[in-house]
Amino acid sequence: MNIEQIFTNNQQWVQEKLKTNQDYFDNLSKGQSPEILYIGCSDSRVTAEDLMGVQPGDAFVHRNIANMVPNTDLSAMSVINYAVSHLKVNHIVVCGHYYCGGVKAAMQSADLGILNPWLRNIRDVYRLHQDELDAIQDTDKRYNRLVELNVQEQCVNVLKTADVQRAYRDRRLSVHGWVFDIRSGKLIDLKIDFTKILEGIMKIYHLD
Ligand code: CO
Repeated sequence: MNIEQIFTNNQQWVQEKLKTNQDYFDNLSKGQSPEILYIGCSDSRVTAEDLMGVQPGDAFVHRNIANMVPNTDLSAMSVINYAVSHLKVNHIVVCGHYYCGGVKAAMQSADLGILNPWLRNIRDVYRLHQDELDAIQDTDKRYNRLVELNVQEQCVNVLKTADVQRAYRDRRLSVHGWVFDIRSGKLIDLKIDFTKILEGIMKIYHLD
């Protein structure tokens, strides 16, 4: 890719936006009030706005390798705090994807240097669900299931934060676990029952 092409693309995009609305960028500059916090993978094939069909201003986005929400990650924790307590989003989405390189790496025995502590969080998800995962004979199916369970566990991590617990109590903020299937382009709602999960874990994680 010619990097200069990016600036040509940008000029075209600006013209297209202004064609439909002369005040488009003026309005954008006034502020944001997104409805959704999207937490997804950095994978270049999983572009948040494109796959959801939303526009600038609609979603507050955080992406990292394998859509993780580690409890001590300052970046993820700051994003959640800002989105929930200041922007007052009504939905938090953790979106994983099949064929995730991060999840695949965590299923293999390899020393990956600085990636080790990051991927260890996914290995912990495997350990939590080892009986279910080990019972799946087909490697691809086991891999896909780990992608789904990782989404579920990262949603649980979202629910462990005081900001989210407060917003859940005060304004019924909702948390969603989704998977993007790269092969079909479809977005799948895992329909995780958080009320049930919350009942099971809140005794331990309750903060507010
Ligand atoms: Co990925």
